[in-house]
Amino acid sequence: MSFPTHRPRRLRRTEALRGMVRETRLTTAGFIYPMFVCPGTKVRQEVSSMPGVHQQSVDQIVEECREVESLGIPAVILFGLPESKDPRGAISYSPEGVVQKAIEAIRKAGLQLLVITDVCLCEYTDHGHCGVIERGEIANDPTLDILAQQALSHARAGADIIAPSDMMDGRVAAIRKKLDQHNFENISILAYAAKYCSGFYGPFREAAQSAPQHGDRRSYQMDPANAREALKEVALDIEEGADMVMVKPALPYLDIVRMVRDRFDVPVGAYNVSGEYAMVKAAARNGWIDEKRVVLEILTGIQRAGAGIILTYHAKDAARWLKS
Ligand code: PBG
Repeated sequence: MSFPTHRPRRLRRTEALRGMVRETRLTTAGFIYPMFVCPGTKVRQEVSSMPGVHQQSVDQIVEECREVESLGIPAVILFGLPESKDPRGAISYSPEGVVQKAIEAIRKAGLQLLVITDVCLCEYTDHGHCGVIERGEIANDPTLDILAQQALSHARAGADIIAPSDMMDGRVAAIRKKLDQHNFENISILAYAAKYCSGFYGPFREAAQSAPQHGDRRSYQMDPANAREALKEVALDIEEGADMVMVKPALPYLDIVRMVRDRFDVPVGAYNVSGEYAMVKAAARNGWIDEKRVVLEILTGIQRAGAGIILTYHAKDAARWLKS
């Protein structure tokens, strides 16, 4: 393998050649677009740290879903901003909740989009933690039934895929059992299996009004320094019945995406999170980077690392750029 017999530049000469030998072909087919549902009608409030992303009432969500579908994006994931919060997040499983209403409205509009719902308590508890608090701790087991109830309410409203993001132990099994008991055995689970305790969730917590009011999430989300533990988390979630698994955030954890892809035989997703999006937007606004080029490079990198599914706020822009 030596020069001058071998000249790798031969295959880089023209775009036709480069296109023919390209190893990763980024497509919109694996994109999931995250959306934030709030109460009211005709509400469309931009999230200041996430230009282009809005908190929206159900009617507006449906409109944007039409656009998402027309761009060839197969799925959305919904997050709820409830009317009220309490210590146990009871409104999270109300059939009258904002997410449940949004799912019904999307279904009613006859859209083919896959509707995925984030299942967690942090948006619904007044303390902002992802589980209930007992004796000053985030209590694991008492949280499981609330999560399962929430998942069931989403399935009843018409969700296709349930995505638990709370990082409580045993939640995938609890959700699977509850869904099956109510004849929702065909609703799949996309587990946030390896979710790290990350600084990159900052803008999301503004968007979802879900910042913890005290303390942090280190007792349930993963330590950024750990890789072997991610493999254990993924193995457990698959054993408990997860159909697909996710690594989150994406960019500082591409090594984890690759390891999970190599080790397990289920579809693997990566969540290109709010802070990753906000950094790109801020730099682009300052004229410091070429947004289109950087976004497509980032998404290609995530796919190349092994994620066939990418949750990203860039989905609509990227779909447009990939079309043209
Ligand atoms: C809920 C949840 C979070 C995100 C997705 N689901 C926030 C958190 O754990 O604090 C983050 C998404 C993003 O930053 O884009 N637990």
